[in-house]
Amino acid sequence: MHPLVKEILFTKEQIDTRTAELGKEISEFYQTQDVKDNTVILIGLLKGCVPFMANFLNHFTYECQTEFMVVSSYLGGLKTSGEPKINLDLNLSIKGKTILIVEDIVDSGLTLTYVKQYLEFKGAKDVRIVSLLDKPEGRKTSLNPNWYGFTVQKQFLIGYGLDYEERLRNLPYVAICDTSKLDDWKW
Ligand code: PRP
Repeated sequence: MHPLVKEILFTKEQIDTRTAELGKEISEFYQTQDVKDNTVILIGLLKGCVPFMANFLNHFTYECQTEFMVVSSYLGGLKTSGEPKINLDLNLSIKGKTILIVEDIVDSGLTLTYVKQYLEFKGAKDVRIVSLLDKPEGRKTSLNPNWYGFTVQKQFLIGYGLDYEERLRNLPYVAICDTSKLDDWKW
């Protein structure tokens, strides 16, 4: 276990099981929808989405394209700046398209509110969200993910895409960070 881990919240096995359920449920949902070109555009928000999106793709059976945006509001720290910034935009037209944003966590909701509005402004017909984690206590907007893996409390989480100072995204589990160690922490 990494020394900055206080407690493992979700193991790799638990995440795998839940991700498989989400993949099945969401694939079945799109079978019931009128989807342009019968293709859902999955948009992963880098960098946190990577482990979850890779896993989710193994279980998403509806026809899809995979695209990415880089949107950042935390700049490696603990608190949101409140101003999401698009550092890498999409390189395709999304007019009339059905979009599924894939995220690691919805906390304040500011990032996704911003991105969702942006995609709708660019002409997307339907924009939905799947997030591995949902932290409703942190919410500062009315946005909720359409699907999520697990609800979490207001704690600083690391692993499985979630970073501290851009590290720890590679932990194969979601954990509560031992924040008492952060002041003196040396990488
Ligand atoms: C994290 C996370 C979400 C966002 C959620 O991204 O991946 O995009 O914060 O927080 P919010 O609901 O309060 O907006 P971050 O800005 O840390 O970038 P990263 O994906 O590169 O870690």
